[in-house]
Amino acid sequence: MSTLSAADSLPARLPLRYKSTWENLAKRQEGAVMYVSGYQDEERLYATMEDTLGSLRDTVGIHATDVFLEIGCGVGRVGRGLAPFVKEWIGCDVSAEMIRQAQRKTLGLPNVRFVEVSGHDLQPVPDASVDVVYCTVVFMHLAQCDRYAYCLEAKRILKPGGRFYCDNANIASAEGWEMFEGVRTRFAPGERPAQASRCSSVPEFETFFAKAGFENWHVATRPMWVYGWGVKPDRPAST
Ligand SMILES: C[S@@+](CC[C@H](N)C(=O)[O-])C[C@H]1O[C@@H](n2cnc3c(N)ncnc32)[C@H](O)[C@@H]1O
Repeated sequence: MSTLSAADSLPARLPLRYKSTWENLAKRQEGAVMYVSGYQDEERLYATMEDTLGSLRDTVGIHATDVFLEIGCGVGRVGRGLAPFVKEWIGCDVSAEMIRQAQRKTLGLPNVRFVEVSGHDLQPVPDASVDVVYCTVVFMHLAQCDRYAYCLEAKRILKPGGRFYCDNANIASAEGWEMFEGVRTRFAPGERPAQASRCSSVPEFETFFAKAGFENWHVATRPMWVYGWGVKPDRPAST
């Protein structure tokens, strides 16, 4: 007698929905800003940019000679403030509409460019071509495997000695738990929207930085957030 497991009733392949999800959100009437920040007020959006610049300064550092790349750049909240301090800022996003809006908001900045990515890798970006990769307020929208895939991609595109920063809501913080419970209780199983926020934890970040092969890495917390940063070794890994 054969038994039917839950896996047998799943579709053969789960659809890859990052692109369609974020393209639709960016085009909604309430606007891309709403889905980037949770509010519609643009002034408030750009006020938070200083906090993010402060985090980058305190972790990976910001130098005039650096090529920076942001994974999931949204409407350019961070890039707009960062570009004047660096050699080049590259905004990557899965949504062409987010990129269009970011282009409008960074008009006049000569050292800014954008790359539309698949949602699973940074394939158009050459190996060892960037000094700093960062990813902020994006991991919460990704499955855990895809977060790690971006850690590996960050390492691939970083120059030897290049720096990587990422963050996510921390499930062990009061605010992170509130967010987790909000999603769990608000939506029935199977009705959770694809972009619904998912937390990380300190052990997840420590594991990703170590397994991806970063060195001199650190993982820290602040209210709501877990964040980590590390350096790509400047010599090939020993076998
Ligand atoms: C909450 S917004 C954050 C935007 C920006 N990092 C900021 O802090 O202002 C999330 C962004 O990630 C993008 N995104 C979502 N899934 C992605 C994926 N798999 N790969 C690349 N970008 C993604 C969305 O299109 C959106 O622009």
